[in-house]
Amino acid sequence: NKGSYKHYMQKEIHEQPESLTTTMRGRLLRGGSCKAKTVLLGGLKDHLKTIRQSRRIVFIGCGTSYNAALAARPILEELSGIPVTMEIASDLLDRQGPIYREDTAVFVSQSGETADTLSALEYALENGALCVGITNTVDSAIARNTHCGVHINAGAEIGVASTKAYTSQIVVMAMLALAIGGDTISNQARREAIIDGVFELPNKVREVLKLDGMMKDLAQELIAEQSLLVFGRGYNYATSLEGALKVKEVALMHSEGILAGEMKHGPLALVDETLPTLVIATRDACFSKQQSVIQQLHARKGRLIVMCSKGDAASVCPGGTCRVIEVPQLEDCLQPVVNIVPLQLLAYHLTVLRGFNVDQPRNLAKSVTTQ
Ligand code: UD1
Ligand code: F6R
Repeated sequence: NKGSYKHYMQKEIHEQPESLTTTMRGRLLRGGSCKAKTVLLGGLKDHLKTIRQSRRIVFIGCGTSYNAALAARPILEELSGIPVTMEIASDLLDRQGPIYREDTAVFVSQSGETADTLSALEYALENGALCVGITNTVDSAIARNTHCGVHINAGAEIGVASTKAYTSQIVVMAMLALAIGGDTISNQARREAIIDGVFELPNKVREVLKLDGMMKDLAQELIAEQSLLVFGRGYNYATSLEGALKVKEVALMHSEGILAGEMKHGPLALVDETLPTLVIATRDACFSKQQSVIQQLHARKGRLIVMCSKGDAASVCPGGTCRVIEVPQLEDCLQPVVNIVPLQLLAYHLTVLRGFNVDQPRNLAKSVTTQ
């Protein structure tokens, strides 16, 4: 039931304040008589000790689910101190890459039925790793066959393009980082700031959804373009990949997410006054590096669209010539949850304006059950 919305994708983008609320429900505790802020992931509590002792955590997934894991990687590394590596399921299988008994392998999948991810799960089970599932679908193959896991509880996702599952996956993996990471005095302030940030998320997402009209205008401007580059780094490298994936899969426009630190190693050659180039430059430890990326793109007459934190428009826009998307700021590791929303809206409006099928993009299926 699409309610008052025209498409499931539109509905699912706009219901993210609610889906994020159900994702965190009962899992974060704060205030009241219990002063300490803590995380409780029922599905993991008996396995946390083993996970903390693992030599490595390996995230495994495909498409949007892989991107969500990539967004959560930095905070998991920071809070756990355990090396975190990334595997696209098909590539792990192609290489028959090493997986060890001492590994914790985390399988991220909205449907829980993706063939590549399931095969990688079988492979990791054979190799003796502890296998953890992060899925939206209770009783799915991945939920059944992993040793333990967390349901993201985002509610059924019907549009082929994954939207609300992505943001809920990131929140679950941030909670996973809090659950695995030790509760030491030195990281207490950081942990509390993240927990407060998770509580603030539904309102921040509600706020960023108000950019809908502006993203429709931007889509109108980009309607006839051939391509869109998206530069991100740090926490928002994943945002650039995921934003580009949304644009290509539903709007059928070429788009590429690029790690901004790699710009000078090739992609800069593409930049000219015609190619739209979106740079994610919200406030975090990488902000000044992104400012310099913007300067360099501007010096090459790049056609700039900059996403920045509220109030930063003047300091990110050289000569006042670029388009600016201002988003509310929150704890750095949760910023990807807010930053993806305008890009989801952009992909949605581009698709409608270009006259393509939003909920059933050509050649794609919601659940990829063949390899
Ligand atoms: C569970 C209940 C929830 C109830 C809550 C009350 C289910 C599905 N969830 O939620 O309805 O409100 O207790 O405390 O009944 N699992 C995997 N692999 C996965 C995902 C999950 O093995 O990919 C396992 C978990 O380890 C756990 C079980 O499935 O044993 C349920 O997981 P989850 O729904 O995340 O647990 P709770 O949040 O505790
Ligand atoms: C993109 C998209 C796909 C899926 C991928 C994995 O919008 O939907 O890239 O993310 O096929 O699917 P799940 O998460 O079900 O394993």
